[in-house]
Amino acid sequence: MGELVRLEEITKEYYTGPRAFKAVDDVSLSFDQGEFIIMLGPSGSGKTTLLNIISALIKPTSGRVFIGDSEITALSDDNATRFRAKHIGLVFQFFNLFPALTAIENVEIGVALKITERDLLRTRALKYLEMVGLQGMEDKFPDQLSGGEQQRVAVARALAMEPRILLADEPTGNLDSETGQQIWNLLKDINERTGTTIVAVTHWGEASSNADRTIHLRSGRIDRITKDATAKGDANF
Ligand SMILES: Nc1ncnc2c1ncn2[C@@H]1O[C@H](COP(=O)(O)OP(=O)(O)O)[C@@H](O)[C@H]1O
Ligand SMILES: [Mg+2]
Repeated sequence: MGELVRLEEITKEYYTGPRAFKAVDDVSLSFDQGEFIIMLGPSGSGKTTLLNIISALIKPTSGRVFIGDSEITALSDDNATRFRAKHIGLVFQFFNLFPALTAIENVEIGVALKITERDLLRTRALKYLEMVGLQGMEDKFPDQLSGGEQQRVAVARALAMEPRILLADEPTGNLDSETGQQIWNLLKDINERTGTTIVAVTHWGEASSNADRTIHLRSGRIDRITKDATAKGDANF
């Protein structure tokens, strides 16, 4: 499998006091097409910062990020926004659904930039609502859905664009552990069925059992990388 994402010597400094604080400190990594990666670390270890650098929401202080052949750290803000809309699916802790839109409308709105024909849009949204197990729920509003179901809508919305990579920031951080496990299982299932590359960050260690590789972060640095015993591929990394 080919490389999809490459991080070269990424550092992100913040100035809150007189001295620079390194939220991400010299991280080099690459992810292959089709991998399911978990970045695991305690609160403050730099997970969100790193994920936002991969999605070009923020620029690193130094270092370069490539997605495919594109150096996203070299893009202007406008081009980064366009790149993200086209190639990157995002899932967040707090679902970020529009409360006044139904489940299917929430999915459609994510794809409306790409597909403008009404019937095609509906067909596409239905396909991904079904993929996340929400067939029959398409006309419910977010407040008529459980937290787990709302997160499924958010996953469907991210996937409906058919992105090259799905990035998730604490996707189960607002769910009880049983519902959270179901979301991890869903992400693994989607990764296996569609081959979508997934990078998810979490502080919840048990999530690792779903991943091909787990990048353990500590104080903005890679502490170690582990490969799950049940992961696809060989055991070398
Ligand atoms: N915009 C910012 N300005 C200053 N410090 C920040 C900013 N964003 C994050 N940090 C700091 O960087 C460190 C890493 O933050 P973050 O990436 O959010 O970690 P995590 O997602 O692992 O909890 C934390 O110490 C945090 O306080
Ligand atoms: Mg975070």
